[in-house]
Amino acid sequence: MTLYPTKPPPDPLAAATHPDPYPYYRELARAQPFHRDAMLMLWVAAGPDEVAAVLSHPACRVRPPGQPVPPPLAQSPAGTLFARLIRMNDGPGHAPLKVVLQRQLATLDLNDVRAAASAWARVLAVTHDHGATANRWSSALPVIAIAGLLGFTATDDEATAGRMATQIASFAAAMSPLAGPAEIAAGIEAAAALQAQPLRADTPWTQALREQARTAGVDAAAIAANLLGLMVQSCEATAGLIGNTLLRLARDAAAADDLQATVAGVLRTDPPIHNTRRFMAEDAYVCGVPLRRGDGILVLLAAAAASEGRPASVSANAPVNAPVSAPVSASVSASVYGPPNSGERAWTFGHGAHRCPGDALAATLAEATVAALLARGIEPAALAKAYRYRPSLNARIPHFL
Ligand code: HEM
Repeated sequence: MTLYPTKPPPDPLAAATHPDPYPYYRELARAQPFHRDAMLMLWVAAGPDEVAAVLSHPACRVRPPGQPVPPPLAQSPAGTLFARLIRMNDGPGHAPLKVVLQRQLATLDLNDVRAAASAWARVLAVTHDHGATANRWSSALPVIAIAGLLGFTATDDEATAGRMATQIASFAAAMSPLAGPAEIAAGIEAAAALQAQPLRADTPWTQALREQARTAGVDAAAIAANLLGLMVQSCEATAGLIGNTLLRLARDAAAADDLQATVAGVLRTDPPIHNTRRFMAEDAYVCGVPLRRGDGILVLLAAAAASEGRPASVSANAPVNAPVSAPVSASVSASVYGPPNSGERAWTFGHGAHRCPGDALAATLAEATVAALLARGIEPAALAKAYRYRPSLNARIPHFL
């Protein structure tokens, strides 16, 4: 049983770790699809049209103006790494490498990924503490499998693999707004070690990625950072997907018969990433509302997913009742990156220019990790008897007790 009360979350940031935030999200998406939260001092996009519109809007950027790196990480190896990640950049710092990553990730044979994760699973230990085992595998196995794929670790080198997984987790934790001084210090140390970590073998996949990136004009430092970035991006979100899938299996043991379908269902109905943020680079209309440069927008992916409303086909950014000749940046259609489809899409992977390129990889790694845990005798029903969610403002990651 969870340790939480079941009253609705007090605000959208608390929703990610609430036991059942989905009725709250649905109501928010219905009644307040785009609104200002005075307490949080953020605009909040909750409706599917509004979420898509914000994530497609050219003035809505991934970092606040003039702040490429969170202040606690600035002037440190963690700040250097952070600033090079495509996830944290827009425009020329983002587009060329994104195209290469998408193309390369699409070439992965998911059966190979499954096999790699299963091979690593045979190396990882199962202790008598099944909760601790599930926590460790959820965080480490996807990262280790990607490290092997990239060439950072050899499949027999458990020590390097385990160390890298811990360093990646430390760096990822330091990026959280909830990180305290100790976590920030650990993240900075981890980032320094990670950036000094040589590839043990340049795998054909990584070689092809490097070559394409170089041809696209991406510099070597950015390529190296974003190889690490693939592990960083996968770390917490994939752990959440694994944990939420285990909780689903606790309620429905038969769902283990088709893990692929179960993981796909969890991605839509109990997703690991609940929100992301955007910041206004200039004054512009967003969802019909005039926003100011520097304004922050909380984009509730999980509310869009929970909402049953069908997205409209018209621009959600056009000013309400405004003529078509409204400011140029205000009239970008939500369909710039393709219309969001209703019901079937996994909003947890985002939308628009920064949409996650690792969706298929993540689902496969989660499926393989859950299968391996089940094969090693981990019982979801026993895990679900005692868990809480890791403290987070945007991710839903069970921590089994
Ligand atoms: C269940 C697991 C995952 C979830 C829910 C997830 C979710 C997301 C979301 C929501 C974004 C966009 C954030 C934004 O627009 O603000 C994103 C970006 C990204 N993800 Fe994932 N992700 C997952 C796993 C992975 C994996 C395994 C990889 C490794 C290949 C990966 C690589 C990336 C990268 C490189 C970006 C940056 C894309 C860009 O900025 O253009 N993700 N992810």
